[in-house]
Amino acid sequence: MRDKIIEVILDNGEDFVSGEELSKKLGISRTAVWKHINILREEGYDIESVNKKGYRLISSPKDLLNPQNIYHNLKTDIIGKNIIHLESVDSTNDYLKKIGNDVQEGTVVISEEQTKGKGRLGRNWQSKSKEGIWMSIILKPEITPYKAPFITLIAGASIVKALNHLNVSAKIKWPNDIIINNKKVSGILTELSAEIERINYVIVGIGMNVKNLDFGQELGDKATSLYKENYYLSRVEIVSQVLYEFEKLYKDYIENNNKEEVIRICKEHSAILDKDIYVIRGDEKELVKCIDISDEGNLIVIDNQNRVQEILSGEVSIRGVKGYV
Ligand code: BTN
Repeated sequence: MRDKIIEVILDNGEDFVSGEELSKKLGISRTAVWKHINILREEGYDIESVNKKGYRLISSPKDLLNPQNIYHNLKTDIIGKNIIHLESVDSTNDYLKKIGNDVQEGTVVISEEQTKGKGRLGRNWQSKSKEGIWMSIILKPEITPYKAPFITLIAGASIVKALNHLNVSAKIKWPNDIIINNKKVSGILTELSAEIERINYVIVGIGMNVKNLDFGQELGDKATSLYKENYYLSRVEIVSQVLYEFEKLYKDYIENNNKEEVIRICKEHSAILDKDIYVIRGDEKELVKCIDISDEGNLIVIDNQNRVQEILSGEVSIRGVKGYV
């Protein structure tokens, strides 16, 4: 109900909305409207009320990831047109999987907290309440399943583009980590439900550390957050910008099979091109030099016997020689 009140008030922009109009539109009494307005004020919304005129929103807690805040900033056609906002969930990817067949393409699930956030390769993803962006997007592209892994690169490129647009200097550690000052700030977990020839859906899970200040001993030298790097950005603005950039690149891939812009961004903002890196496959660790990203989005490296190898994103991990990158 309070989401709806904010929506109506936001739609009215500078104009006042009377208590009567709100009560009619929402089918609740004027006293109930007044009570909801008071709770919204407690949540941080600054709502002006003037006798005989009604209510007007002066400012919202910019940082709440509720759909109204995001819709208001969003310039997309399909991605994020339906947003499900949760206070807490085990994993937004898992939540979306359960409802995957019943929701429209582009539906986004965002949770303030995840109790079982998942990283790649079965790792755990720390997702404390309101500290970051924990969201998943569902896609239903009509492409063959082998073309799905490229969507991870699309997500990476959109995150970097969005952050750069917000004046954050971020890089991509191919294929799915976003890096600031040699530490990971964001990761992508793409999951696929498909038959041999056909995709049911792809879920792109994005985790971004925004306000976390303490990563504990284990992660301390590998992970960072925007706040730790002195970028004090609103989560709403980041989400809107990421969804906007994602939609442009995703549409171009699905409709025109165009990968060029994504590859260009991945190369221009690469954290590993021209560097020596370890490629880790299970228990094996191989030292190689990273020389390029192919037109298909694969990593091109030279091994220690001077052989050129092309690496598919799949289940490899990349580590820098001196640390995380
Ligand atoms: C990684 O870098 O290992 C991937 C991390 C992906 C984390 C996000 S948070 C939202 C979505 N839900 C999950 O359980 N995981 C992804």
